[in-house]
Amino acid sequence: MSPDSRPAATGLHRATAFAPASVGNVAIGFDILGFAVDALGDRVTVSRRAEPGVGITAVRGVAGDLPLDPERNTAGRALLAMQEALNPGFGFQMEIDKGIPLGSGLGGSAASAVGAVVAANALLPEPVSKLELLKFAMQGEKVASGSLHVDNIAPSLFGGLVLTVGIDHPRVKQIPVPPGVRAVIVHPHMFLSTKQARAILKRTVELSDFVWQTANLAGFISGCYTNDLDMIRASFQDVVIEPQRQALIPGFHDVRRAAMDAGALGCSISGAGPTMFAWALAGHADAVLETMRREFGRHSIALDEWIVDAQSVGAYLIDK
Ligand code: HSE
Repeated sequence: MSPDSRPAATGLHRATAFAPASVGNVAIGFDILGFAVDALGDRVTVSRRAEPGVGITAVRGVAGDLPLDPERNTAGRALLAMQEALNPGFGFQMEIDKGIPLGSGLGGSAASAVGAVVAANALLPEPVSKLELLKFAMQGEKVASGSLHVDNIAPSLFGGLVLTVGIDHPRVKQIPVPPGVRAVIVHPHMFLSTKQARAILKRTVELSDFVWQTANLAGFISGCYTNDLDMIRASFQDVVIEPQRQALIPGFHDVRRAAMDAGALGCSISGAGPTMFAWALAGHADAVLETMRREFGRHSIALDEWIVDAQSVGAYLIDK
């Protein structure tokens, strides 16, 4: 389905959606590039209620102590934005099952917001396009991180590797990933606040770093379109954000170096961290994971790990 096309009306009174986790930034696309990770995600159930507005009945799962006040909850804020814009004539009551750990850098706040708008859309007499849903979900992301970034929302909603250009009138492009590329994801069990990891960033960028980073983003995207793995490997490096954040992640340097030595195409921080990810061809993915696990292990941190296809699906409705 293209970003602008609308799904058919379902007439449902209750719907559940699964929204996948995501890796934001992908090293060189700070706030604008991300890919979906459907090995884990959040499930959101939305029901119609007579009273307008939004209510949250429960938040369960791996991050169960999130606020039930819809103004302070990412999924609640996204549905409030939807209500305000569409005024459907009924309210939304929501339950959230969190499958993505809080403060992991895997787009948990984005997934809840995306799951909420996808489920709520199925209740509307006239469902709106995914591009409209993106704007509502962005309002939710703002509650969590204090800024309107789209690099987790867009891949969680659309699936695959996604570039988003613009905030007020976002344009979304799903970028092809060369065949055989796997994403290796390693999540150390520690909490890192996205707000905090954004607050430490300098407001200015050196001209030489700007040139380097711009070249890397262009090289990476063109490498994806032309299956040029050498170009992807050469450009898969964040020279602006990663140097400022790496100290927040114990073992960052060793994990990255070991992944690259094991044949990764690139290795960096997933979103604001502390999760790290690498891209590797299928034949190298196990070895890359093994070395990342070993290096994180030197810091006695418990881990979750996944090897996934970098080209996965976005949020979808599920039968419950
Ligand atoms: N692009 C955002 C950041 C992602 O790096 O701060 C947060 O998950």
